[in-house]
Amino acid sequence: MKQRTVPLGKTEIRITPVGLGTWQFSGGKGMAGSFWKAIPPDITNEIVKNALEGGINWFDTAEAYGRGHSEASLAKALKTHNISPDDVVIATKWWPLFRRAKNMLRTVDDRLHHLNGYGIDLFQVHTPFGFSPVEAEMKAMARLAEQGKIRSVGVSNFSANQMVRAHKTLRKMGLTLASHQVKYSLLDRKIEKNGILQTAKKLGITLIAYSPLEQGILTGKFHRDPDRIRFTGYRKWRKLFHRPALQKTLPLIRLLEEIAENHGTTPAAIALHWTIRFHGDTVVAIPGASKPGHIQAHSEAMRIDLGEEELHQINATSKTVCRELS
Ligand SMILES: NC(=O)c1ccc[n+]([C@@H]2O[C@H](COP(=O)([O-])OP(=O)(O)OC[C@H]3O[C@@H](n4cnc5c(N)ncnc54)[C@H](OP(=O)(O)O)[C@@H]3O)[C@@H](O)[C@H]2O)c1
Repeated sequence: MKQRTVPLGKTEIRITPVGLGTWQFSGGKGMAGSFWKAIPPDITNEIVKNALEGGINWFDTAEAYGRGHSEASLAKALKTHNISPDDVVIATKWWPLFRRAKNMLRTVDDRLHHLNGYGIDLFQVHTPFGFSPVEAEMKAMARLAEQGKIRSVGVSNFSANQMVRAHKTLRKMGLTLASHQVKYSLLDRKIEKNGILQTAKKLGITLIAYSPLEQGILTGKFHRDPDRIRFTGYRKWRKLFHRPALQKTLPLIRLLEEIAENHGTTPAAIALHWTIRFHGDTVVAIPGASKPGHIQAHSEAMRIDLGEEELHQINATSKTVCRELS
């Protein structure tokens, strides 16, 4: 299925408004990887196959997702389906904790090794908490671009100010900051108030929304069956999954369900559609999936076409619910 594409920042790379997040492919390994239950390789392959068939043309992974396990599982699945590296866009991330910028130059070959023939189209600094300043990290990124090891540069979890510093440093070297990966969903709208959204729009930086389904809450499955929370691993410690918060978010879920029914789709697809529609081409989303069936919503989010009134109705209810939660 062919889907519309948008530019990744000011680069020539084009991505579908929905990409697939692959933290779930960590194999339960490492600190970050243990967040999700390990998924068997045949299921990973099927998730990737459904994503490709649903028109998704890009994948987000990271060094921290199982210390290369996610990158390797993704590459293996793409190979299984005979996908040429030129036909997909791969985004991965360098993990900066307790490291200096020059570590990026030393470890990029590990990333390429795990990706097994698939190149790094977008290389992102995972968090702003490294030992080196943003400027040094961007200089290391520029070096990698010059060496042809990466095609574009992104950051993640930066403040608006850090994002501007990254952008300015890259500009001096003839590059641009392609993207900023941030937490954003109908239940988390901080980027609209802290300057990130406004600055990204002004500078032409793509915002990549992570956890756009609030780790499953916006699908409505926890509202329909609150006992599910017992089987969600670490998510059970998040207050948003507890009954009092579920009660507060219920009006939004009810609205998503109602609109979904009118469009013959699911609340998850509606929530994702709003995320990739409401701010034009500035915001794209990378929902994760633990089951092949989840991909239908990811793909439908790009197919459906909500009216302005519906988009604004969702916006207003989401704002009221976010206020209730704060
Ligand atoms: N840069 C960062 O710091 C950062 C941080 C977090 C995430 N990320 C990236 O963003 C991606 C997505 O974020 P996320 O995984 O935290 O949250 P998410 O995409 O909001 O939620 C994903 C989870 O929701 C459930 N789900 C997805 N589609 C569903 C459907 N149609 N029906 C029912 N359940 C469904 C699945 O959980 P269950 O089946 O297990 O219930 C799935 O594992 C990650 O894979 C990763 O690539 C980046």
